[in-house]
Amino acid sequence: MKTLKVGMLGTGFMGRTHSNAFNQVGHFFELPYKLVLKTCYGRNQTTLANFQKTWGYEETSTDWHKVVSDPEIDIIDVATPNFLHREMVVEAAQAGKMIICEKPLAMNYAEAEEMVEAVEKAGVQTAVSFCYRRNPSVALFKQIVDENRIGRPFHYRATYNQDYTISKKVPVGGASLWRLDAKVAGSGVTGDLLAHSIDCAEWLNGPIERVCAHTEIFIKERQNAETGDMTPITIDDACMFMAIFRNGSVGTFESSRYARGRKNFNTMEMNGENGACFFNLEEPEYLQFFRYADPETGKKVEDHLTGWQRILVTNSEHPYMSHYWVPGTVIGYEHYFINQLADFLLEAAGQRPVYPTPTVKDAARVQKVCDAVIQSAREERWIQI
Ligand SMILES: NC(=O)c1ccc[n+]([C@@H]2O[C@H](COP(=O)([O-])OP(=O)(O)OC[C@H]3O[C@@H](n4cnc5c(N)ncnc54)[C@H](O)[C@@H]3O)[C@@H](O)[C@H]2O)c1
Repeated sequence: MKTLKVGMLGTGFMGRTHSNAFNQVGHFFELPYKLVLKTCYGRNQTTLANFQKTWGYEETSTDWHKVVSDPEIDIIDVATPNFLHREMVVEAAQAGKMIICEKPLAMNYAEAEEMVEAVEKAGVQTAVSFCYRRNPSVALFKQIVDENRIGRPFHYRATYNQDYTISKKVPVGGASLWRLDAKVAGSGVTGDLLAHSIDCAEWLNGPIERVCAHTEIFIKERQNAETGDMTPITIDDACMFMAIFRNGSVGTFESSRYARGRKNFNTMEMNGENGACFFNLEEPEYLQFFRYADPETGKKVEDHLTGWQRILVTNSEHPYMSHYWVPGTVIGYEHYFINQLADFLLEAAGQRPVYPTPTVKDAARVQKVCDAVIQSAREERWIQI
């Protein structure tokens, strides 16, 4: 068993999900690695000390450069706000580390290109955390598309809605609400939420060729949590765009943090000649499938038997599920991160993953689409990608 030592950059929401995955992955997947949580980096000593104790890190650091240059560390995991991703990934690549990075990959496509160049030059293995691909129902969606059960696709539809910024009193900046600060986040819902939707869309339905978008800022200034000053808001609170895919199908994407009642409403649907699939993250263990015709014979399903099928994705034949419990017992959000880490480590060991991991290069492509969406909204016109 080879030992792989981990340096975790960030102790927030994603620092926790990734640390949990490092602790759990060996319990569910057979891997030729012993994982050691060596160093966790954060800004606050008390938070760091608690984080270290909770997840079992050997040591803490408030200097991420030292973590990245530590010769004992094999994997650098970037789970910090978006503006830090570029320099952390580039420096980790130069130090020859395996890299896991959170999405969105970067603040913009120019940064993403620089990151691709650095990781390709260094020849290091990378993964970007588009975790929803690792939900077994979404992975089954992919399998159904690959089995040609949808047939010629006509429509792709994605929504990703939340409601946590409706109140005028929500400040900008500081812990967690860095997401409302363009200098830290890059963009609003486009990079934060639609990056996931775009990744899944291109994974399931192929490349997007053109986009036409509209973005909205509902509350134009907010109090800064750190300075107390009123600060102009320049990130997109909501974004809607139309997309034309290379395969000729058409798509709509909608995302907002002002969708009252919606907490993490991430849906995707594809409608084709022979069938359709629908996934909703609020019912993550189900995939809905509409079978119209048999992909091999083209024979239509009998009229009185057509209808949406609600598949409980917990059988051992379903993607990832043979690694968990018995049929009928569900897994949760944290398992998407375990699944993606397992795929990353299986690839590192030269073994076949359940599905290949999206790399920094794949994520740069998503960034390119995000940039085109923002440009389209700004210039009020279609943008070719
Ligand atoms: N894959 C997903 O579904 C998913 C979900 C949430 C967040 N994310 C991404 O993960 C990354 C981290 O998000 P999070 O929700 O864990 O954030 P968070 O605010 O919960 O944690 C951020 C961490 O970064 C550290 N940090 C270092 N410098 C900082 C700075 N200048 N400002 C703020 N924090 C700083 C903080 O100490 C903290 O440990 C982001 O890129 C985000 O887009 C991905």
